[in-house]
Amino acid sequence: MKIPITKAIFDEAEKAAILKPLESGWVVQGPNVAEFEKMFAKHAHTPFAVALSNCTTALHAGLVAMGIGAGDKVIVPAFTYVASANAVEYTGATVVFCDIELSTFNIDIPKLEQLLKTETNIKAIMPVHLFGLCANMPEIMKLAHKYHVKVIEDAACAFDSWINNQHAGTFGDCGCFSFHPRKAITTGEGGMLITNQESLAKHVSQLRDHGASKSDLQRHKEKGGSLLPDFTMRGYNYRMTDLQGALGVCQMQKTTRIMHGRREIAKRYDHDLKQFPQLVIPVVPKGYIHGYQSYVCLFAGEEGLNQLTKEKIDRLNRQRNIFMEQLEAKGIATRQGTHAVHTLSYYKNRYQLKESDYLMAYAADRLSITFPVYAGMSDAEFNYVIQNIHEVLTQCVELVE
Ligand SMILES: Cc1ncc(COP(=O)(O)O)c(C=O)c1O
Repeated sequence: MKIPITKAIFDEAEKAAILKPLESGWVVQGPNVAEFEKMFAKHAHTPFAVALSNCTTALHAGLVAMGIGAGDKVIVPAFTYVASANAVEYTGATVVFCDIELSTFNIDIPKLEQLLKTETNIKAIMPVHLFGLCANMPEIMKLAHKYHVKVIEDAACAFDSWINNQHAGTFGDCGCFSFHPRKAITTGEGGMLITNQESLAKHVSQLRDHGASKSDLQRHKEKGGSLLPDFTMRGYNYRMTDLQGALGVCQMQKTTRIMHGRREIAKRYDHDLKQFPQLVIPVVPKGYIHGYQSYVCLFAGEEGLNQLTKEKIDRLNRQRNIFMEQLEAKGIATRQGTHAVHTLSYYKNRYQLKESDYLMAYAADRLSITFPVYAGMSDAEFNYVIQNIHEVLTQCVELVE
C-alpha cells in the first residue's frame, strides 16, 4: 500500500470552476479572486482579505506595508519554514531568531520577552502557527504592546486554527496564509493576507499589483477604463491568477468536509499512538483548536525527552531517521516537521550561528516526525500506518541497540 503525506481534495467542482476563467478569458486577479477573498474573510471573521501569489509574497508585502525595512530587526522563531526568514530579508531587515517551546513547536514566550528586552531596533515579531496550532497570541500581543512592536502572523499552516473563537491571523497587525498543496486547502500556489486595518489592506493590494492605485477589475468596471491608473508606490507582481481564485472558491465551499476529515484522523492518531511511549503526540492547549495542517509527533525513543543535550538529540535523531526510512520502505510517507532555519547553510553563515544556539529548535528539527493526514483517509490506510508504526518501532529499537 502507498500512503502519501497528504492529498488535495479536488473533484468535479474544481474541474468545472477552472473552466470558467478559461471561457471568460479573465484569467488573472479578477472576479474569482475577489470572491475567494470575500469567502476567506468571512470564514476568519475579519474585514479584509487580500489574495497574493503565495504566502511568502504575502509576508513580504505585509512587512513592507508595516514599514519594515533596512536597519530594522524582526523576531522569527528558529523552527519554521525558511520562507518566514526569507520574507524578512527581502525587506532589507535583519532576522533575530528566537527559540521555541518543544511541546507546541511555537515561539517560546519567556525567550521572546528576553529578546525584546535586550535587542535594539526590533520593529516586529513574526509568530508562526506551526502545523496548524496557534502560537500563544494573547501573550505575544501583550508583549507587542509593552515593547511597541508590530506583529505579522505567519499563518501559512493555520487555516481554520483558532484560540477561543478567534481565527489565526486576526490577532496581530496582519496574518498570512499559504495554499500550497501541503496545506489544508490549496490553490496550487497561493497566499492570503488578512487584517482588520483598512489602510494596510489597501497598501498590500497596491503592492501586489505593481503599485497600481486601481486594480484591472476596478478599471474595467468603471468608465474610462482605457487609461492606465497612477502608480503611487514601487510595487511587485504578487497577483493571484483567477484560475487559482476559482480553485480557492471551491475549496472554501468544502472546508467543513476537509477540516472535519483531517481532525477525525488526528483524533484517531491521538488515541492509537498513545500506546507507543517512543512517540510524543501533539499538544493542544485549552481553548485552542488545531487545524492539523500536519500531524507532527516527537520521536522520544526508549530514553524519552528529558534533559535534552545536543548529544542526546543526535543519538535519538539517528533512531528517528531509521524509523522514517523503514516506514518509507513500507510505502508510508513521513517527513521531519520542518527545519531549524538557523542550521541551514545560508542563515548559519550569514548570522554566524551554531546548531546548539537554539537547542529546542534543533531538537524539533532532528526529532519531529509528520504522519500522513488527509480528509478521506480510509480505515484500511489508517490501520496500515498504525500497524507498521508498531512493527517498525519494535525493530527500530533492536537495530540501534
Ligand atoms: C511556516 C511557513 N511559512 C511560510 C511558508 C511559505 O508559503 P508559500 O509556499 O505559500 O510561499 C510555508 C510553506 O510551507 C510555511 O510552512
